[in-house]
Amino acid sequence: MKVFIKTYGCQMNENDSEVAQYYLEQDGFDIVDNENDADIVILNTCVVRKKAEDKFFSTIGELRKKNKKIGVMGCGAEKERENLFKRGVNFVIGTRAIPRISEAVELSLKNKKVAFFDDLLDQIDYKNVLKRNSKYHAWITIIYGCNRFCTYCIVPYTRGREKSRKMTDILEEVENLTKKGIKEVTFLGQNVDAYGKDLNDGTSLAKLLHETSKINEIERIWFLTSYPTDFSPNIAYEIANSPKIGKNIHLPVQHGSNKILKKMNRRYTREEYIELIKKIREIVPDASISSDIIVGFPDETEEDFKATVDLVKEIEFERLNLAIYSPREGTIAWKFFDDNVPRLIKTKRMAYLLNLQKEINRKLNEKYLEKKVEIIVESEGKNGYFYGRDIRNKIIAFKGNPDLIGKKAIVKVKKITAGPLYGEIIKIY
Ligand code: SAH
Ligand code: SF4
Ligand code: F3S
Repeated sequence: MKVFIKTYGCQMNENDSEVAQYYLEQDGFDIVDNENDADIVILNTCVVRKKAEDKFFSTIGELRKKNKKIGVMGCGAEKERENLFKRGVNFVIGTRAIPRISEAVELSLKNKKVAFFDDLLDQIDYKNVLKRNSKYHAWITIIYGCNRFCTYCIVPYTRGREKSRKMTDILEEVENLTKKGIKEVTFLGQNVDAYGKDLNDGTSLAKLLHETSKINEIERIWFLTSYPTDFSPNIAYEIANSPKIGKNIHLPVQHGSNKILKKMNRRYTREEYIELIKKIREIVPDASISSDIIVGFPDETEEDFKATVDLVKEIEFERLNLAIYSPREGTIAWKFFDDNVPRLIKTKRMAYLLNLQKEINRKLNEKYLEKKVEIIVESEGKNGYFYGRDIRNKIIAFKGNPDLIGKKAIVKVKKITAGPLYGEIIKIY
């Protein structure tokens, strides 16, 4: 039987799909890379905003017309659970039940409707899981779930409470990956800074970064996503002390107004956030700080929005993910707050911030002009262009050839835009 997994949402879902494919292959299923060749299609879903959810429902509709067996995993599986059977889905796998995926597929082939939601995280055999996204880079989930309960967010309901993997287990996985050619890893968690806290044995993200840096074959280490009050200065010291750790801290602020931050249950003030950035920049002077912001949260006035605008101008984020507030069933905001910012105002505010960020991007990119930067070559684009990333997570495009992928190179930046930088190869090694 041929199975195709289609992945939506965040990097954690990417990693979960790799785990699912590992179990399916172990149990004799063939993994194919497109829907048409598959007998069974599994959607690994995201429901962080309504738009993501709509997409997954419409895909189910399309698949039904094609008479495929349909499975759903990921955050949509947790949110909708057995309701999915009414939509024609054949089996449902919760975010922590992936080791039972083959069992679910087999039962569905006998026309049984099954939904598994057990917590089997401890069983996952990570060190044998094949990484499929890249030959050189691997996503590595180090902590599951989230305990923060921001009032707008569905993630704590779909991913459960924080649970860290053992550090020895993660290091063993990394060591194993280096034997398969992996040179770059990204440690993942919805609140990655909380890594180790639940283990109560002194494990921390800073320690994990430190230990991973010692592995010779590993050239670069990233981590995502940070949470302001859990971010420890020790993490910044590790970055400052190791040339291997990416100088990019993705630290979502979500809003610039204290009134809204409180309503979001973000547990810090605007001033505390700014103070933290100052501290990070003291320790890592050329740190690249990126962020997420929500516009149009309930009760957001023009003044609140202006506070966000001023914060964006003050911090000058290297990258910004902007999203319009989307009420999520079951969350505190959905239950108790009126989604009262008119649609038109939301889109106007969004457009304003997008534009502002574009200007900031261009301005920050100017500092790169005529500079020589070390990159790791990652992928091929169009028209003979290749892409690489520097230690600050800046993407640089240049004319090259496929042999360069996975290699380190020095490029000289010749042209900047608000998006990628363009350069010429100076040296390859
Ligand atoms: N754990 C991370 C990211 C979680 S989801 C964090 O703490 O920031 C990724 C992003 O989606 C969030 O940062 C937030 O900006 C956005 N998001 C989450 N729920 C949302 C909602 N209901 N409406 C709009 N954006 C949302
Ligand atoms: Fe969601 Fe907040 Fe947890 Fe991030 S920290 S996953 S936004 S609840
Ligand atoms: Fe989406 Fe779940 Fe990730 S809701 S963003 S797939 S944690």
